[in-house]
Amino acid sequence: MIEARSLTMIYGNGKKATDDISFNIKAGEIVGFAGPNGAGKTTVIKMLAGILKPTSGTAVINGFDINKDPVKAKMSFAYIADNPDILIQLTGLEYLNFIADMYEVKEEVRKEKIKTLSERFGMSDVLNTQMREYSHGMRQKLMVISALIHDPPAWILDEPMTGLDPSAAFELKQMMREHAKEGNAVLFSTHVLEVAEQLCDRIIIINNGKVVSEGTLEYLKLTNPGMTLEEIFVKLTGKPENEA
Ligand SMILES: Nc1ncnc2c1ncn2[C@@H]1O[C@H](COP(=O)(O)OP(=O)(O)OP(=O)(O)O)[C@@H](O)[C@H]1O
Ligand SMILES: [Mg+2]
Repeated sequence: MIEARSLTMIYGNGKKATDDISFNIKAGEIVGFAGPNGAGKTTVIKMLAGILKPTSGTAVINGFDINKDPVKAKMSFAYIADNPDILIQLTGLEYLNFIADMYEVKEEVRKEKIKTLSERFGMSDVLNTQMREYSHGMRQKLMVISALIHDPPAWILDEPMTGLDPSAAFELKQMMREHAKEGNAVLFSTHVLEVAEQLCDRIIIINNGKVVSEGTLEYLKLTNPGMTLEEIFVKLTGKPENEA
């Protein structure tokens, strides 16, 4: 459902941020994407989402090639960027309507979605406030709501839990579980290994732009006996360069 095919990205400055990254997330799966700062997670996610054009390789979402069939592909997934500070001059409601317009969500459907999602994330009272007045977590919650407004089968989320309070994080995790259970696919990047441990069917770990491990938690633990996920992560990805 979410397929990376040999995604390689060389930025304009010559930096090879990702090198031949491939994976396939199937219907019903929640997959965690982990790796140190600068490993290439956001770069991969932006290529999957069609925001960055890969130097080589492609992504296929729900059978649609993101580079050949971008509109159909984009209609079929939800995307949360790593930065929620966009269009902050709009009110929350204006932003949600703008996104709903882009995804052609019908009036009655969007009303219901905005109502239930805002209630779930405790945002109903601030929808008429400009987002510039929101806290970081409130902006993040709004990004979550906006991503889910068109109810797509695949979710591609870049550090979606960052800045969320425990109740909102709980809601989102719950929603990710429900979504996967209904036969959909979720890919999310995270630095919080406990979250990956709680939620994921599989974990993909990348380092220096390459996949260094991929498998279920059981597989990772079986191949690294007696180690916690944190210890496995440190073993596979090494210490940060400035501490090495
Ligand atoms: N626009 C850009 N131009 C040049 N290099 C970039 C650009 N964006 C990212 N990079 C480089 O690509 C590499 C991967 O960055 P990326 O943002 O994908 O990492 P990440 O795994 O998401 O990190 P983090 O955990 O900090 O979010 C880094 O070395 C980064 O410096
Ligand atoms: Mg990132």
